[in-house]
Amino acid sequence: MTNGGRAGAAALLAAGLALAGASAGAQAPPKRRVIGMSQCNLGEPWRQQMNADIRTAAAAHPGLEVVFKDAQNDSLVQRSHVEELVAQKVDLIVISPREAAALTRPVAQAYEAGVPVIVLDRAVLGDRFTCFIGADNRQIGRAAGEWIRKTLGGKGKIVELEGLMTSTPGQDRHTGFREGLDAAKNPGLEVVFEADMKWLEPDARREMESALARFPRIDLVYAHNDPGAHGAWLAARAAGREKEMRFVGIDALAHEGLRYVRQGVLDATFEYPTGGKEAIETALRIFAGEKVPKKIVLGSRLYTRENVDAGGAPIPAPGTATQKKGAER
Ligand code: FRU
Repeated sequence: MTNGGRAGAAALLAAGLALAGASAGAQAPPKRRVIGMSQCNLGEPWRQQMNADIRTAAAAHPGLEVVFKDAQNDSLVQRSHVEELVAQKVDLIVISPREAAALTRPVAQAYEAGVPVIVLDRAVLGDRFTCFIGADNRQIGRAAGEWIRKTLGGKGKIVELEGLMTSTPGQDRHTGFREGLDAAKNPGLEVVFEADMKWLEPDARREMESALARFPRIDLVYAHNDPGAHGAWLAARAAGREKEMRFVGIDALAHEGLRYVRQGVLDATFEYPTGGKEAIETALRIFAGEKVPKKIVLGSRLYTRENVDAGGAPIPAPGTATQKKGAER
């Protein structure tokens, strides 16, 4: 190669390198981030769906890795999972806590150690976390109570099968339901049996067997989740009484609650979004240095036999005209 040729080649090489540098800069591999996901239990289809939603949303972002933990419905195990994730120095924790009080401290300790924490679906106490994401369970419970009051025409004997009452969705779905039912102004409506089935189908079935044994007539079962409503239906069917009453649940998964509605097992179910996608979106905003809201409230829908094929109907948000009317009565 001549000198000139060599110089030309060097210039070309330099230009090439500069170009490569520029394009490498533009397409620099995304920073690797590890999210620790502390799931309270993977026994229910709804929680498997939550993890799947998180996995799918995260997969769209190269560099993002999610480490999943399953506490198998044990709050002490879940506490140690949170501590492990902090010790492993994950970049962010997402937690769906089994119980509020028991998980408040480990969440606060992670947050105070500088790890951002997104609390998903079930809340903890206080405000020592970065962001809470979930639907408004009180509002869903109230909508269920209103629907039940109207559907029963203000008269009937009701069984309430509650979710774990040391978890916030159980408490809120109960409080909201009683508000919506408004039994004080509708004395014909009576909750004759109330039991904590801890979100579990076998427990709901067992509790419902007791209710059936005690009450010769039951008009409706309101369960705080679809597995609970299905467990109650199984008990009623075993007693040959499933046609005597209606069944209402919450979750509305396509392959669970919505299928039950189509099959005529449930009369109604209310959507409870998992928030998995929103948790990943929020984590990315936190990684980008954005300030995120303390609370992100997700919407819900009511599904009945009449509207399930049309995609259900939205639950009015608190403060809308119908709600105000309800509150003024
Ligand atoms: C699953 C589940 C759901 C329910 C949610 C409440 O564990 O019981 O069925 O909607 O948790 O946190």
